[in-house]
Amino acid sequence: MADSRKLPRVRLGDGGLTVGAQGLGCMGMSEFYGDTDEKAARATLDAALERGVTMFDTADMYGRGENERFLAPFVRTHREQVVIATKVGSVRGDDGAMSVSNDPGYIRQAVEGSLSRLGVEVIDLYTLHRRDPEVPLADSIGAMAELVEQGKVRYLGLSEVTGDELREADTVHPIAAVQSEWSLFTRDIERTLVPAAAELGVGVVPYSPLGRGFLTGAMPARWQGGDVRSVFPRFTGENARRNAELLAPVAEIAEARGVSMAQVALAWLHRRAEVHHLSVVPIPGTRKPARLAENLAALEITLTDDELGRLEPIAEQVAGDRYPDMTETAGSRES
Ligand SMILES: NC(=O)c1ccc[n+]([C@@H]2O[C@H](COP(=O)([O-])OP(=O)(O)OC[C@H]3O[C@@H](n4cnc5c(N)ncnc54)[C@H](OP(=O)(O)O)[C@@H]3O)[C@@H](O)[C@H]2O)c1
Repeated sequence: MADSRKLPRVRLGDGGLTVGAQGLGCMGMSEFYGDTDEKAARATLDAALERGVTMFDTADMYGRGENERFLAPFVRTHREQVVIATKVGSVRGDDGAMSVSNDPGYIRQAVEGSLSRLGVEVIDLYTLHRRDPEVPLADSIGAMAELVEQGKVRYLGLSEVTGDELREADTVHPIAAVQSEWSLFTRDIERTLVPAAAELGVGVVPYSPLGRGFLTGAMPARWQGGDVRSVFPRFTGENARRNAELLAPVAEIAEARGVSMAQVALAWLHRRAEVHHLSVVPIPGTRKPARLAENLAALEITLTDDELGRLEPIAEQVAGDRYPDMTETAGSRES
């Protein structure tokens, strides 16, 4: 029987955007993590909405627009309930090469593409995907603020930024949410971004909260060929072996509680909201209804201080970078 319990709702930032306490990452439905069963992916979207997930995360670059097109029928059918969150600024060339553009002219043009592919008149949360240091941040946020004035976008977000960059952007236009990698394995954002978000009343949307699947106990050796994770330094060779050993406390806590490792990882992240006094809405990515239900059930787990203590030392011991090229990450711009 379907689980009819609804997720609690959370205010994402001080601007009035309210969403279900866990969102759904939709990237893998179109690209990056191997083949997708489309029927199961669509069933996952429906099951998520049914349970009170309202924020669905995509980007114009996922599948080069394909992910937004994939989501369009779902978003249009449930337009009043769905908070559609998409991103701009990470650019794919025809040859697949990735670059970054924060140019105001580019943003004005790109939003039209996202609106058209999604088949909506307004994007609920529009996030600057990557920072392009060649363009003053005030110019990019200024262009995005114009989109709010024009009614094309409701709320603004930033992704992979430093605390200082968030502060600067927030003086140009209120920022509802910042999106960054945050998990038991990746805690860089706790240095400057999290304190800035807490101070400014900006919500935090942790991406890759399951460490791209690694924190669930998945085997990186299976991530071959078209799976982008096969070239991520922390999932390859000796790093993968060492990092798997770091998961021992996650596995032990999961076993003792009779829950999954994914649930322990998400329960830890949900607890960050209390620790740092901010709103935290993780967006675990899955294409399978059963995993969606499992991930949502993590909200019902309260880890004890002892368990939190055992998980605390993990992140600082992780071997290998989280991307093959770290030049676009927030950390590369922090002293
Ligand atoms: N702003 C950015 O730069 C950025 C970067 C990366 C991602 N994102 C966003 O964040 C979302 C989530 O991140 P992510 O997808 O990279 O990583 P993630 O959520 O940490 O992990 C996703 C992986 O875990 C698997 N998984 C999910 N739930 C599971 C469970 N209960 N048990 C076992 N395996 C499970 C998924 O496989 P199945 O799908 O087969 O279940 C998938 O391979 C993305 O979808 C995207 O929207 C944003």
